[in-house]
Amino acid sequence: MLFDLVRPALFALDPERAHRLTVRALSVSPVRKPPKRGPLAIDVAGLSFPNPLGIAAGFDKDAEVPDQLLGLGFGFVEVGSLTPRPQAGNPKPRLFRLVKDRAVINRMGFNNGGGEAAKARLKRRSGRSGIVGINIGANKDSDDRIADYAAMTRAMMPFASYLAVNISSPNTPGLRALQDGGALFALLDAVLAERGSAGPPVFLKIAPDLEPADIDTISRIAIEKKLDGLIVSNTTVSRPPLRSSFASEAGGLSGAPLRDLALQRLRDFRSATDGAIPLIGVGGISSAEDAWQRIRAGASLVQIYSALVYKGPSLASRIVKDLEYLMRRDGFCSIAEAVGSE
Ligand SMILES: Cc1cc2nc3c(=O)[nH]c(=O)nc-3n(C[C@H](O)[C@H](O)[C@H](O)COP(=O)(O)O)c2cc1C
Repeated sequence: MLFDLVRPALFALDPERAHRLTVRALSVSPVRKPPKRGPLAIDVAGLSFPNPLGIAAGFDKDAEVPDQLLGLGFGFVEVGSLTPRPQAGNPKPRLFRLVKDRAVINRMGFNNGGGEAAKARLKRRSGRSGIVGINIGANKDSDDRIADYAAMTRAMMPFASYLAVNISSPNTPGLRALQDGGALFALLDAVLAERGSAGPPVFLKIAPDLEPADIDTISRIAIEKKLDGLIVSNTTVSRPPLRSSFASEAGGLSGAPLRDLALQRLRDFRSATDGAIPLIGVGGISSAEDAWQRIRAGASLVQIYSALVYKGPSLASRIVKDLEYLMRRDGFCSIAEAVGSE
C-alpha cells in the first residue's frame, strides 16, 4: 500500500535517480531476518534455499543492501555485476521505463564501484545467514576479459554463496561472444581452475538471444565442465511489439515483453541439458503464476527484477505466499518435485 502512494513520486523522477533513492532508503531501513526454510525450501548446487525466489543481478550492483533484500522475503540475492576495476558505465540517460509495456530498457554498461569496494562491504556481513550470490563481469576496456573473470573468481569467492559468470550483458561490446564454443570453454577452464574443489558453486548467465546451435554448444560445454547452474536469461536485444515511446532506445529489454522468450529459452535449455544441470529462470516474471510456470518448465530457482519497479518491494513476499498455494493446488509437496513437471 505504501508503495502505491510513493510510486507516482518515484515515477516522476528519472529512473536512475529513483533507483538510487530506493537503494538508499533500503540501506537506512532496519534489517529484518532472512526467510526461514519453509514448505518451498529447495536444495540446489549444495545450497539450501529457504524459498526459490531471488532478486536478479543489477538491482544491488555494489552489494549495498543484500541483507535488507533478504529481509523482504527473497530466498536469495544476487549482487553485481561487479568488475575488477570500478567503471562509470555508459553516458546517461541509460535506463528507461516503458510503463505501458511493464518493461525496462537499460544500457547501463556495468557501472559499478569495482570488486574491492564490494568485497569490503561483503566482508562486513560475513557470518550473517542468507544466500548471497555474486555476479561477476569484465571491464569494458580490459585487454584480457577471461583474466578479469578469473581475477574476480579469486577475489570474490570467499564472500560468495555462489558465483554467477555473466557473459550475456548486451551493453559491453563483444561480451556475448564469450558464449561461443571455444571462448566459453577457455573462460570456464579459467574460472573453474580458480574456484578449485573447495570454492562456491558456479552458475553461468546466458542471453535469451541464441540460436538452437548456440544452445546445444553451451549445454554441451556446461555439462562437460560440470557447471552448477545456468541462469536463463539476461535482457534481450530483440524488440517484440512495444507500445512505449522509449521502445527504440538501444540496450537490453526486460520485464513483461521478455517473459515468453525467456520461458522458451528455459524450455530449450531444459531439453538440451535433459535435467543434468539446475536451471535458474529469469525474465519477465511478475507473479506467482509466472514463477510457477517457470518452475514447471524446468527452473529450480527463479529471479525477478523489472516487476519490482512496477509492483514494489512487497512483491517478493506475495509471490512466495501465492507460490505455496499453487504448489499445493497442483498436488505437489515440494518445489523439487515440481521442477520440469510440465
Ligand atoms: C537496470 C538493470 C540492470 C541490470 N544489470 C545487470 C547486471 O549488472 N548483471 C546481470 O547479470 N544482469 C543485469 N540485469 C538483468 C537482470 O538480472 C535480469 O536478467 C533481466 O532484467 C530479466 O529479468 P526481469 O525481466 O525480471 O527484469 C539488469 C537488468 C536491469 C533492468
